[in-house]
Amino acid sequence: MNLRPAKPLLAPSILSADFTHLADALALLETAGAEVAHVDVMDGRFVPNITLGMPVVEAMRAKTSLPLDCHLMIVEPLRYAVDFVKAGASWVSIHQEADPHAHRTLAAIREAGAMAGIVLNPGTPVETLVDLVGDFDFVLLMSVNPGFGGQKFIPRILDKVRRLDTLRTERQTPFMIQVDGGVSTGNAADLVRAGADCLVAGNAVFKAADPVAAVKGLQAEMAKGRQG
Ligand code: DX5
Ligand code: ZN
Repeated sequence: MNLRPAKPLLAPSILSADFTHLADALALLETAGAEVAHVDVMDGRFVPNITLGMPVVEAMRAKTSLPLDCHLMIVEPLRYAVDFVKAGASWVSIHQEADPHAHRTLAAIREAGAMAGIVLNPGTPVETLVDLVGDFDFVLLMSVNPGFGGQKFIPRILDKVRRLDTLRTERQTPFMIQVDGGVSTGNAADLVRAGADCLVAGNAVFKAADPVAAVKGLQAEMAKGRQG
């Protein structure tokens, strides 16, 4: 199955939105034409920050038709991954560094009916995925150290995207490549050119003076990247 989207997808992260007005943030993303809503779940253990859990995902599910992409920055993700699918997540990703049994957790996410993703921190090589190819629907490459929005993009990640793109070509397994952290109009085209299919953007959307224009500006850069 080809899991690569026909056009690159933008997944704004609601971590940078006003948490007292999440329904408005989701409505804004729909109006702007964003394809996915990225939801950052942090447990204060895997990362030094705590955000939200299943009840908030369930509340958001009731307010939008956008796919909810839950990025689990938590230890022992098997304990909760299926609960996030039940709460309404369409995509669930887990950190490889947080799970010695990623194969089992990815299978549980798929079995529950969501797209399963595996996330790599900046220092985790893409080569560690070779024996999991086929078991995930997408790979999320972190381009900052996870835990906070608004950090600086690590340019070395571009090379990781290229190496992962090569891996999926070699293995003839067209999984989706997602990149998260410090994404902006300054790097969106390069990331897509390198092979990224989905970009997460928090501050670049929600801290912009005009978030709707920011979504469209990022999508325009991403389209340039697909054109070559
Ligand atoms: C970081 C989160 C990101 C974050 C991105 O730990 O996983 O999704 O919200 O925010 P920006 O785009 O501001 O770096
Ligand atoms: Zn994220």
